[in-house]
Amino acid sequence: MRFLPGSREPRVAIVGFGYVGCCLGVTLAEHGLYVTGIDRDARLIAQLEAGRCHIAEPGLAEAMRRLHGTARLTFSTQYDSIEDADVIIIAVGTPIGPDRALVTRQLEEVCASLAPRLRRGQLVMLKSTVAPGTTRDLVRPLLEAGGLVQGEDFGLVFCPERLSEGNALAELRELPIIVGGCDQESTHAATEFWKRALDVPAWEYTSPEVAEIVKLADNWWIDHNIAMANDLARLCDAFGVDVLEVRNGANSLPKGGGHVNILLPSVGVGGYCLTKDPWITWNAASERGVRLATVETIREVNDRMPEYAHETICAELARAGREPAGAKVTVLGAAFKNNTGDLRSTPVKPVVDGLLAAGVEVALHDPLADQAELRALMGVEPSASLDEAVAGTNCLAVLAGHEPFQQLDFAALRKRVASPCLVFDGRAYYARETIEELRRLGFGYRGIGR
Ligand SMILES: NC(=O)c1ccc[n+]([C@@H]2O[C@H](COP(=O)([O-])OP(=O)(O)OC[C@H]3O[C@@H](n4cnc5c(N)ncnc54)[C@H](O)[C@@H]3O)[C@@H](O)[C@H]2O)c1
Repeated sequence: MRFLPGSREPRVAIVGFGYVGCCLGVTLAEHGLYVTGIDRDARLIAQLEAGRCHIAEPGLAEAMRRLHGTARLTFSTQYDSIEDADVIIIAVGTPIGPDRALVTRQLEEVCASLAPRLRRGQLVMLKSTVAPGTTRDLVRPLLEAGGLVQGEDFGLVFCPERLSEGNALAELRELPIIVGGCDQESTHAATEFWKRALDVPAWEYTSPEVAEIVKLADNWWIDHNIAMANDLARLCDAFGVDVLEVRNGANSLPKGGGHVNILLPSVGVGGYCLTKDPWITWNAASERGVRLATVETIREVNDRMPEYAHETICAELARAGREPAGAKVTVLGAAFKNNTGDLRSTPVKPVVDGLLAAGVEVALHDPLADQAELRALMGVEPSASLDEAVAGTNCLAVLAGHEPFQQLDFAALRKRVASPCLVFDGRAYYARETIEELRRLGFGYRGIGR
């Protein structure tokens, strides 16, 4: 059976219109496809229908505005429109539980809603990150419970989403798509879809399990590499050298067809993916009797960075003659990543907790984050402005290096802050000239590994 219409553009339904679903849906609609976003969150659907964008992703709000009111992007809390779709993309959340194992509840609920509505000829694509075997052993039987047979009546593939926040829309137009289907016809239909829809390379793999592990391997590598960068930073701190200088030299070595590519150290690893995907990998391996010791180590190394950050801030304050208890620290940037407002599993939260536990008065400023969410997460009232946040502070802790914090006018700030005042660089990676300028102005400077 053919799983894509040959003569016209396929109609798409995306189930789960959160971060990934929304970025993908908007991109497909901008390429001229008819897309329906289905989400169980009625508040979210009402916002989307009103043309409001709930995600701080560069270019997304503008694209939503362009599509608002057109038939190319519609929304629903109901599954009724599933029947009209040729391609159904599943992008619901796949968190981990307290035992760090994958929680498939959202996925199971979606499959239960889809199963009775599936019709012959449809292609189902799973995009949510899952443990190996999930597409074949969980999703397929749940969908077949509706009476249709996978491979004969409907197609099923795993197609991981590999975009990175802050650059999502550009990456969706460029990144090669990994496709692993439960059968060859499904795989071919999916690669044809991505080539037709976005004109991106789509690479066929022999099974969904390969594609599932590709996604996990990517995030395992990134988390692993950052853990090394973080340990390297601590080594550089111990020897009083700048980790960015070391990294610059080390990364010049050709290796394996590319170069050594040590990523950047920081105040910690956060976000929705890197904090859970290595554990999904670890758990899946452990269920088959394989122990992935590297995952245990990298997670521990990266999870310890917030503690390293708040201890370093307190130690530097004390060294400059200002006891941490009663000192004011201004946290600039609370998101887990530069230039996003995403607070999910942000490492800034344990830094703030550590500072508060040390008796520090914490001021918070992140213009990209949702202020109500920020308040609820940190238990601290966010400052209304940068000016208010920095007034009389003993430390400017730049923990997410958003664009405005790269352009700070330190000469003007000098008049607003206390003396002594430390600039703590958790993720801004200020250039040497900026650091020299800071010292000239009378600021102290410390970074992670700097
Ligand atoms: N955030 C990222 O940068 C990123 C990148 C690559 C892959 N992923 C993976 O993509 C998946 C989605 O991530 P996200 O960040 O978009 O999550 P999200 O939490 O932002 O979005 C998930 C959406 O699914 C909806 N949902 C849950 N159950 C539903 C149901 N039964 N029916 C309809 N809608 C339902 C939720 O209301 C929510 O809006 C995850 O598996 C994640 O690991 C995320």
